[in-house]
Amino acid sequence: MSAALAPSWLRPVDPPDAVDVCVWSSTTRRDASGSLVVGGVSAGDAAAQFGTPVYLIDEADVRSRAAAYRAAFAGWRIYYASKALLSRALVRVIADSGLSLDVCSGNELQLALSADFPAERIGLHGSNKSDVELRLALESGVEHIVADSFDELGRIERIHAATGVRASVLLRIKSGVEAHTHESIATAHEDQKFGFSLASGEALTALLRCHDNPAFDLLGIHSHIGSQIFDTNGFSLAAARLLSLMQQFQRATGVSLPELNLGGGFGIAYNASDSPSTPAQLAAGLDAIIADSCAKFGIDKPKLAIEPGRGIVGQAGTALYTVGTIKDVELDGGARRYVSIDGGMSDNPRPALYGAEYSCLLANRVSAAAPVLSRVVGMHCETGDIVVRDTYLPSDLAVGDLIAVASTGAYCVPLSSNYNMALRPPVVAVRDGVAHTWVRRETYADLLARDVG
Ligand SMILES: Cc1ncc(COP(=O)(O)O)c(C=O)c1O
Repeated sequence: MSAALAPSWLRPVDPPDAVDVCVWSSTTRRDASGSLVVGGVSAGDAAAQFGTPVYLIDEADVRSRAAAYRAAFAGWRIYYASKALLSRALVRVIADSGLSLDVCSGNELQLALSADFPAERIGLHGSNKSDVELRLALESGVEHIVADSFDELGRIERIHAATGVRASVLLRIKSGVEAHTHESIATAHEDQKFGFSLASGEALTALLRCHDNPAFDLLGIHSHIGSQIFDTNGFSLAAARLLSLMQQFQRATGVSLPELNLGGGFGIAYNASDSPSTPAQLAAGLDAIIADSCAKFGIDKPKLAIEPGRGIVGQAGTALYTVGTIKDVELDGGARRYVSIDGGMSDNPRPALYGAEYSCLLANRVSAAAPVLSRVVGMHCETGDIVVRDTYLPSDLAVGDLIAVASTGAYCVPLSSNYNMALRPPVVAVRDGVAHTWVRRETYADLLARDVG
């Protein structure tokens, strides 16, 4: 990429009002001094108050995306996939927004319950749930468990034999749909660990095992084809295959399954070239294929549900870092500037895990200096510790400047680690010019407390 080809959103000389609104959270602006402002709080003030790295969550943006999904998917149940980002304050925002919640471990469930999220609006996922997790879910009265394997069905049957408690279940089905996304986040092809195979007949066998079985209240089926998917083609294909399965079940038992959950995976914009569908476009596409397939298979339209995670919180997040070391590296036919920041793969492992790409800006000021091809890298002892692989930053970028990385609300903090004894960053909600800590920065004492040898 040459400087001449740098798209406008990458240019460090953007005027205050030209921050790309499709990548940044909806309230993000530049103020008169040139500082990036999120939720009414300037980058400089946030860094001074909380230090860096810090993850700012634009609360109004979360609420407006939740409202957009509810409006578009009217009549559908919408479960926020809490693995994307989870904290007690966020759980309360989700409850307030009228969404249900999907958790995928006993600990996520406990956190949600500790924030008084109603158990009857929670679904529990997981490909290897323990007896303890299943019992916790049943005792707390969750709405449903999404069962993933024959072993899990056996565990639920044994718990029922011991306690008499019946489990409301959806069965997770792998539809065989090859989602057009990175291999590590595609989840419905045959050769992966999730769900009962549709192609092999396992799915129907599992449904029939749960039918008329005192251990189960069989609610329906679930599918999640993958993540960061931009159009409805994969979802439509999965929906058609799952409705055909529902028809087979109905023919075999005379009973219709009441629910179909199509999972999450709706893509968001990480870069200006990303063009995700809007919730309204997704809903229109899915409603049409479901109506068609139900008519074709002669089955009643089931109750429908989705589970967006990044679609609710992804673009609400902005990560702020301080620039440390700056190094210029000579390359054949050019040069690249390495800009080291005070975080990296410990707080955002997505680029290292699956080549995720991000957009960033100089956040504490604007600069008219010429743009320089730059790579924003972390502070860790790994060459792959890259946060933004290719970007343009101004040539006068200096130690102490702030860098903001967009669309970091989902799967950064939850995947963060203590690599090199890094302290995990705080999560701070910003709204109407006020900042509230949702999750405080980890301390060295937190780390030492576990080291008991
Ligand atoms: C079962 C299930 N539902 C929902 C989601 C949420 O996906 P996304 O955040 O891409 O919407 C995931 C993500 O991995 C998932 O595994």
